[in-house]
Amino acid sequence: MARNAHKHAASATHWIALATCMALLGAALFVDFRWAYSSSSSSSSPPSATSAFWSLASNWALEKSGIIVFPDLGSRNESGDQLQEVRAQEDRGPGSDAKEKRDQGPDAKEKRDRGPDRFLSATYADLPAPDMKWEEMPPAPVPRLDGAAIQIDNLLYVFSGYRTLDHVHSHVDVFNFTSNTWGGRFDTPKDMANSHLGMATDGRYVYIVSGQYGPQCRGPVAHTFILDTKTKKWDKMPPLPAPRYAPPTQLWRGRLHVMGGGKENRHTPALEHWSIAVKDGKVLEKEWRTEVPIPRGGPHRACVVVDDKLYVIGGQEGDFMAKPGSPIFKCSRRHEVCRLVTIIE
Ligand SMILES: *[C@@H]1O[C@H](CO)[C@@H](O)[C@H](O)[C@H]1NC(C)=O
Ligand SMILES: *[C@@H]1O[C@H](CO)[C@@H](O)[C@H](O)[C@H]1NC(C)=O
Repeated sequence: MARNAHKHAASATHWIALATCMALLGAALFVDFRWAYSSSSSSSSPPSATSAFWSLASNWALEKSGIIVFPDLGSRNESGDQLQEVRAQEDRGPGSDAKEKRDQGPDAKEKRDRGPDRFLSATYADLPAPDMKWEEMPPAPVPRLDGAAIQIDNLLYVFSGYRTLDHVHSHVDVFNFTSNTWGGRFDTPKDMANSHLGMATDGRYVYIVSGQYGPQCRGPVAHTFILDTKTKKWDKMPPLPAPRYAPPTQLWRGRLHVMGGGKENRHTPALEHWSIAVKDGKVLEKEWRTEVPIPRGGPHRACVVVDDKLYVIGGQEGDFMAKPGSPIFKCSRRHEVCRLVTIIE
């Protein structure tokens, strides 16, 4: 029971964090829309440069009635069947009123030239999009929370994590995308953290830094490791200058970068940013170099390099902390927030 309660508390936190993220994103989109709308309606005779705003504004108005309209560019060379289906939808859908206005309005000629519009429920407003379908994979060998995963070619390596708040894993499970099976389980080093790891790969070696050691809300360790995925051999790197929870970690310009994360008390966002030169699974320096701090720190961010730029995206600020004096470092709730985007060049 107690375990279940913890699990629910933990997943409730994640839902709250996720919901907050979505609310923020929603608010941002709304403001964006309002801005576009007022930009267009505040100028009495809009120059052509703002025509995009006009079409956005009229979409916005239609969207309020649950309908979105956009030029049906695709239907000009769509097969007759598809075209008929679109028209049938127009006629029986709640867009018929709008359709009449479109046929008679002052812009009718322009629209006739442009071809028929499609009226779709606002649910589909982001069409056209790739038709992606979800497919369920074989279940992972063990349940996990706050583990880490990294893909190398057709293999997905999934590291440690909590099984429950009172039990953590110390092994890696490997999923083979070719055979669609899990297999090849192997242990992590005894002194490697179990959750909140920082992790990056160069395609063969996996660099693993810091993280929380043990269950509940125990402290982090500064230990760092290199895994050779070809030989399954582990090696050590110099420890981080200070331990961190779930720091964004990435290889960039020949160096392993570690920035932000949660500080030793698990809650306070860290701003420090360190790097160390690495090559083919070997560390080329004796200690970590101090780099320009991250403007806003915290754990659980995505971190990628695209076009030689290092991006740190989203994530959390604040986290559960150990209850003061608790012999088992029992997790107790603290306020946490999530955020949108940070970019570093
Ligand atoms: C539709 O027509 C345009 C130009 O007429 C052409 O470039 C495009 O490839 C066509 N699309 C399809 C799906 O046939
Ligand atoms: C992954 O599965 C394929 C297909 O069964 C197999 O040939 C390959 O050896 C597997 N890879 C590993 C690392 O086990």
